[in-house]
Amino acid sequence: MQVLLAAHAGFCFGVRRAIQQVEAELAHSGKVATYGPLIHNPQVIARLADQGVAIVDHLDMSTLGPVVIRSHGVGPAIYEQAAQHGVNLIDATCPFVANVQKAARDFTEQGYQVVIAGDADHPEVQGIVAWTGNRAIVVASGKEITGDKIQGKVALIAQTTLKEATFREVEAALRQLDVELIVKNTICSATAKRQEAAQQLVSQVEVMVVVGGRNSSNTRKLAQICVAAGLPTYHVEQAEELDPRWFKNVNQAGVTAGASTPHWIIEEVVQRMTEIQQEQELENNVPTEEAA
Ligand code: F3S
Repeated sequence: MQVLLAAHAGFCFGVRRAIQQVEAELAHSGKVATYGPLIHNPQVIARLADQGVAIVDHLDMSTLGPVVIRSHGVGPAIYEQAAQHGVNLIDATCPFVANVQKAARDFTEQGYQVVIAGDADHPEVQGIVAWTGNRAIVVASGKEITGDKIQGKVALIAQTTLKEATFREVEAALRQLDVELIVKNTICSATAKRQEAAQQLVSQVEVMVVVGGRNSSNTRKLAQICVAAGLPTYHVEQAEELDPRWFKNVNQAGVTAGASTPHWIIEEVVQRMTEIQQEQELENNVPTEEAA
């Protein structure tokens, strides 16, 4: 079995930058907390906890030491709270997310009804909504677009990790309405590259392994792309979860990983798949009693 890794997989620029900022602060002051879990990957979070990185869910007088804002970003109220309580914030908001926040705020100030294509429960989207004074409408698909809620001047933006096809579907639904529409595609290139690379790989393999946190939105979307292509697809967080039965009689297996998946976990998965392949070769070559 040949194991093929997607051309773009694993940590994106924004996640790598956020981790570097946490590690730099840890080395500098020996004390740092993150506002919410830094990324959607339980293994990385456990490793940071071992290094002494705390997680806080509020900022007040009791917040000790510097607090890192994760790459998903937050709304303006968090910056105000930090200033009020003298908390030293280290802002690791991904610059791409910061651009979406700015666009959402600017469009709102210019009188547009902002529509965000994305997941209303995702922290990045909640942060963007907050920059519109909670006036933005969040839709997960084109089916949620209805003329009674959306009228006048409308600006469509996207959660950075949205699937391109979903964004186009929402745009098409908005174009059916009698509205003045501005479209700003804010899907980040790291996401698009990982999705395109997964799409290219599915045509070359018989089974796909998608590596990343089960709570990672962009990892789950990669898995959806593989499933939609009709391939047996397994979403794992770590190498231990791989089951040799998934690779029986498979000649080519693909691996991709979300933007919050570190390279050490991807390497362990590829390594374990290679071992499984070697074990299966050995089993196939064991001489039968008659042949012996
Ligand atoms: Fe930033 Fe894109 Fe990663 S928005 S956090 S570079 S997926």
